Amino acid sequence: MSAMSMPMGSAFDVAPWSQNHLTRVEQALSQWVGEGAPAGLGDAMRYAVLDGGKRLRPLLVLAAYEAVCSSASVATPALDDAAIRAACAVELIHAYSLVHDDMPCMDNDVLRRGKPTVHVQFGEAPALLAGDALQAFAFELLTPDDSLIPTAIQATLCRLLARAAGSAGMAGGQAIDLASVGVALAEDQLRQMHRLKTGALLQGSVLMGAVCGHAAATAYQALSDYGAAMGLAFQVVDDILDVVADSATLGKTAGKDAAADKPTYVSLLGLARAQAYAQELLVEAHSALARSGLPDTRALAALADMVVRRSY
Ligand code: IPE
Ligand code: IPE
Ligand code: MG
Ligand code: MG
Ligand code: MG
Repeated sequence: MSAMSMPMGSAFDVAPWSQNHLTRVEQALSQWVGEGAPAGLGDAMRYAVLDGGKRLRPLLVLAAYEAVCSSASVATPALDDAAIRAACAVELIHAYSLVHDDMPCMDNDVLRRGKPTVHVQFGEAPALLAGDALQAFAFELLTPDDSLIPTAIQATLCRLLARAAGSAGMAGGQAIDLASVGVALAEDQLRQMHRLKTGALLQGSVLMGAVCGHAAATAYQALSDYGAAMGLAFQVVDDILDVVADSATLGKTAGKDAAADKPTYVSLLGLARAQAYAQELLVEAHSALARSGLPDTRALAALADMVVRRSY
């Protein structure tokens, strides 16, 4: 049955969908990352990216791409290639952000994805460079030699990713985060910090998938709203998990936010209201999907559920 003819209410099992897409993402990352990098740089890059991580951002790219293609039947091998490249590129930016986030000059964390952090394993300068190289490689992946991917799509993907990663996105949010230690932020300030440091890349993942599938304006706006709500929910839940989960489950050190005196949704609202806010954002994400006009958004819906209901 084609996605077009599949009724929205029919059962959707996200597990096989994720498994199938995760396999493609892992293979592509393993094939591409660190290849030919000199002087141990490739080892640090591969260590940072492979063997761990939920790969939520790549799944969002692919789910958005498929949701848009299901309405317009535009999938072609070149656009499929753009989508898998976009999926890997966002994961590279994310992995780089984690490497730098964990460094002593930022959160000073020793555990990530169940392993020693990159600077603990390789040293600070190699960790810094691995992050730099992953960031650059993300954009190289989006602009392959001799590609059939339309150049306008390549350029738009670069722009969306640069915006999500830069001063109006992740890096800007991280700057606010560092400047906010010990500061009691108002709710709108905290929301803005979370939208930038984490939400922007998650929303950007959805938009990149939408661009690969030539989304129409209505669908694009709805997916943008979905990405904003789901992306903010993601960091609210990250704040909650830092309090309620243990390090073994998280694969990173629990309790770090309070120990470092970071403002979070839990410190601002308390646990119960932070949890209620994540649920509200989930409802917002679902209603954005409902107004997208897209015939099959079940994978995106399931990923939003996963963001809010996850335990790590
Ligand atoms: C953790 O992101 C860092 C934040 C942006 C809060 P994830 O929870 O997606 O980390 P991985 O990729 O699964 O390790
Ligand atoms: C980091 O937020 C977001 C990034 C841009 C990497 P956190 O500092 O809360 O992420 P974790 O909890 O260390 O994964
Ligand atoms: Mg941090
Ligand atoms: Mg951190
Ligand atoms: Mg955190």
